[in-house]
Amino acid sequence: MSSIFLPVRIEFGMDSSLRVGSEFSSLNCTKVMIVSDKGVIDSGLLDRMTKSLAESAIQVILFDGVRPDPDIACVEKARDLYVSQACDGILAVGGGSSIDTAKAAGMLVTNPGPIAGLVGMNKLTNPLPPLIAIPTTCGTGSEVTNVTVVTDERHFKAPIVSSYLIPKIAMLDPGLLLSLPPNMVAATGMDALTHAVEALTNNVENWYADASALEAIRLISQALRPATANGNAAELGRMLYASTLAGVAFTLARLGLVHAMSHPVSGLARVPHGVANAVLLPYVMAFNVVGNPRGYAQVTRALGVAERENEVATAVAGVKEVVKLNHQLGIPKSFKALGVDEELIPLMIEDTFKSGNVAINPRRTTKSDVEKIYKAAFTGESPLTFVE
Ligand SMILES: [Fe+2]
Repeated sequence: MSSIFLPVRIEFGMDSSLRVGSEFSSLNCTKVMIVSDKGVIDSGLLDRMTKSLAESAIQVILFDGVRPDPDIACVEKARDLYVSQACDGILAVGGGSSIDTAKAAGMLVTNPGPIAGLVGMNKLTNPLPPLIAIPTTCGTGSEVTNVTVVTDERHFKAPIVSSYLIPKIAMLDPGLLLSLPPNMVAATGMDALTHAVEALTNNVENWYADASALEAIRLISQALRPATANGNAAELGRMLYASTLAGVAFTLARLGLVHAMSHPVSGLARVPHGVANAVLLPYVMAFNVVGNPRGYAQVTRALGVAERENEVATAVAGVKEVVKLNHQLGIPKSFKALGVDEELIPLMIEDTFKSGNVAINPRRTTKSDVEKIYKAAFTGESPLTFVE
């Protein structure tokens, strides 16, 4: 059985973000809170958007306090600004942290908190104020997803899932990615690849998600290397399109063990989300191959790697390709190289099992399995030890 519900309009194209003023007018908004971070603001990316808003006679309030892995205090500050200024719409411009902050702030405007009571599946009872999301990275997918992640007091990245969190409009403008540093293209691109691989291979069946995921993997396999290496608009545009497709895929089919394990690494050790996923992805793929050889063989073919003598061997060839991709993109090989404290592993294991994504992973997973994967990813030993 497949269920498809995506109440988001997607506008794709160079300079599409310059129509943001008329889009908010069409939503009957008159005073919009922009949610963004210092990096985006300093780069001047907002200037032409605020001009577009002014031309549509829309007032603007700026919330510039977004931090990586936004916490409860950050989200509540954004909500307080929205309420005190009597705004009637939200514009998120940035990566996953900006879009997630905007979603969570909007959620608190119309749904009584505290946030702890909204964590989990479908706890929201009211729609958000009109929200337009404009991504400036090629990974999050948050511009089309039904999820926001807020880091709580003990550094646990708590997911909140509801169709009310899907933005009204996603505006995909490749021009906004032109100043993205290569390491950010690489890390966010690997996040998108992880979304697609997990949505395709997990235990949730959804044909629309699978089609979106396969196309996302195909595009990423072709565009991520050149987009990172030369940053040209055409390749970045393909990556932006792929990351949104991957976002569609995981909104419909959810994720898996990579995200269950990477959130604790980011929450407790501050490793950027895309980097944590990139390091873990080949290990979890190798661990999972026996659970879904057919799905991982599909991943391999979509990565553009030749068929091997049987399905398992084809699936394993995909793991090797992801190891090679990480290396070519300059992603560190291990958590040790990223300075993560190995003493955190027991806490990370505990937090992994709080995620609903463990239960839908294509291979049943025990605490000892997670410990083995974390330990291997810490030292950077070959992921192939899980399949050979
Ligand atoms: Fe992700």
